[in-house]
Amino acid sequence: MPTPIILDCDPGHDDVFALWLAAGNPEIDLRGVTTVSGNGYLEHTTHNARVALTVAGVHDVPVAAGASGPLKRTLTPASWIHGENALGGPELPEPTVPLDPRSAVELMADLLEASPEPVTLVPTGPLTNVATFLEQKPHLREKVREIIWMGGSTGRGNVGAYPEFNAWVDPEAADLVVRSGLPVTMVGLNISHQALITEPVVERIAAVGNRTGAFGVELLRFFCSTYDAVESMPEGPLHDPITVAIAIDRAVATVQRCHVDVETQGEFTAGATCVDLHDMLGREPNVDVALTLDVDRFWQLVTDAVAQLD
Ligand code: RIB
Ligand code: CA
Repeated sequence: MPTPIILDCDPGHDDVFALWLAAGNPEIDLRGVTTVSGNGYLEHTTHNARVALTVAGVHDVPVAAGASGPLKRTLTPASWIHGENALGGPELPEPTVPLDPRSAVELMADLLEASPEPVTLVPTGPLTNVATFLEQKPHLREKVREIIWMGGSTGRGNVGAYPEFNAWVDPEAADLVVRSGLPVTMVGLNISHQALITEPVVERIAAVGNRTGAFGVELLRFFCSTYDAVESMPEGPLHDPITVAIAIDRAVATVQRCHVDVETQGEFTAGATCVDLHDMLGREPNVDVALTLDVDRFWQLVTDAVAQLD
């Protein structure tokens, strides 16, 4: 049976590939897409999610918009990586995928209530929507199978010294989720920086030969150009699809169960994920932390999914 998921995202170049992997792989039943502000303002991330599904020819998945900002802080979009519209590079076609009138939380609630089995939440942006859902719909926690989140890091961050962007945008939301008691898998920068967009990877996506692949190559080229300019990483890391790859095949990544805290008070460290890899403090583990990626398997999953789309 395919795994039912809701993908909560902030497209974002790598979020688009997470959407495509979820839509194109037969092991995943993409029940719904919700959008959150992060890489861009909500209007952009929502528009971009609809564009990504339009390009791929996916018209049977509801898309609902969520939080326009973090729980307590002010949003700073990652325009330095994703561009002013959060999907720099290609010319964006007008989306034909409609915007669902429900809010992200309402769509999540409706989908979980309607599902005979628990549903996996796959957030690939700040955790504002997921945290709000857990707070507002506590009776539906039992319908959450697990949460597989791209965010955090076991090491250095990408916004300042320690915080990773998704956790940095909304540390309070990330803190709520890691404390939720629900099964949480953290896909941090430590593993996402193993998913590097090399020239052979770009060539594999280009060789698919469809509209989705061609659009994807333009996204990858832009994403790598900004990573090169900002982080001196000409082979940018395609962070977000790793979450969906894990939902497809747990063997694609190794994980270690650890105690994780999210810093919410630090002047310089707010959003840092404090991963007790060596159990120094002897506290109850609360997160499965992804550590190593089967890189070949990952790119094969991504390429095969793109080939299943328009
Ligand atoms: O730090 C990487 C994360 O921040 C990715 O999810 C990327 O899309 C941005 O949201
Ligand atoms: Ca993202």
